[in-house]
Amino acid sequence: MAQLKGKLALVTGASSGIGECIARAFAAEGARLVLAARRKEKLERLAAELPGSLVLELDVRDAEAVTRALRPHPFDIVIPGAGLALGLDPVQKGSPVDWSEMIDTNVKGVLHVLGAVTPGMIERRRGDIVFLGSVAGRQAYPGGNVYCATKAAIRSLYESLRYDLHDTGIRVSTVDPGMVRTPFSDVRFKGDGERAAKVYAGVDYLWPEDIADIVRFVVTRPARVNIGEVVVWSKDQASAMQVARRT
Ligand SMILES: NC(=O)c1ccc[n+]([C@@H]2O[C@H](COP(=O)([O-])OP(=O)(O)OC[C@H]3O[C@@H](n4cnc5c(N)ncnc54)[C@H](OP(=O)(O)O)[C@@H]3O)[C@@H](O)[C@H]2O)c1
Repeated sequence: MAQLKGKLALVTGASSGIGECIARAFAAEGARLVLAARRKEKLERLAAELPGSLVLELDVRDAEAVTRALRPHPFDIVIPGAGLALGLDPVQKGSPVDWSEMIDTNVKGVLHVLGAVTPGMIERRRGDIVFLGSVAGRQAYPGGNVYCATKAAIRSLYESLRYDLHDTGIRVSTVDPGMVRTPFSDVRFKGDGERAAKVYAGVDYLWPEDIADIVRFVVTRPARVNIGEVVVWSKDQASAMQVARRT
C-alpha cells in the first residue's frame, strides 16, 4: 500500500471543513502539508497542530499568485478543494457577482492550481490529484444553477485530465460528496446561520472527516490502482433533491 509518510501534499481550502479534515488525516499518517486558503490566521492555527506544515495565504482566483506560490514545491499529492456556493436563487433572480465568484473559484481557481503543479508532477512522473467534486455536478437541484454548473465542470475536467495525464504516472480522482456538514451553507447563505442550520435539520449528514477518510483511502492504494470516481452519500440522502428528515 502507498504510504503517506514523508509525502508532500497540497490542500487548497485547508482553512475549513473538508480541506481542513483532509489535512489532519494526511498529517496523522506522516504527510507534510502545504495549507492554502485566504484566511491566514485559520491556517496558522491548524499549522500549529500539524508539525512541519507550511501556510500559504492564497486566493486561488489570482492566477499569477497561485503560480508563484505553488511552482517551487514538489507536490506528491494535490487536493484542489477550495470552493464555495453563493445563494440559492433561480437564475432570473441571481447575482452576477456571485456567479463570477463561484466560477472564478470553483473552476478557474482549480485550473490555476493544476496549471501550476502539473508540469513538476509530470517531470517527476508521479503524484495524485484528487478533485472535490459534488453530487451537485451530477444532478442539478432547484436554485443550484451556477454552483451545480461549476461542479459539472469539475467532473468534465476530471475526465479530461485523465486523458491529459494518463501516460505520465499521475493518478487523477474525484471524490463527489452529498450533504456534508461544514461551514459551506453558512457561506452559501452569507452568514445566515439559521437558514444554514435548516439544511441539515433532522438529517444524519456526512461529516467532513468521512470525506477525508475516503480521500486518504484513494491516495493510499498501490501505485497501479487509480480509483476514479467516488460518490459519497449520507444514508439519508437519495438524490441531490431528496433527503429523509427526522424532525
Ligand atoms: N459541504 C458539502 O456539503 C459539500 C458537498 C460536496 C462538495 N463540497 C465541496 O467541498 C469543498 C470544500 O467545501 P466545504 O464543505 O469544506 O466548505 P467550507 O468549510 O466553506 O470550506 C471551503 C474552503 O474553500 C476555501 N476558499 C474559498 N474561496 C477561496 C479562494 N478564493 N481562494 C482560496 N481558498 C478559498 C475557504 O477558505 P478561505 O475562506 O479561508 O479562503 C475554505 O477553506 C468545496 O469545493 C465544496 O464545493 C462540499
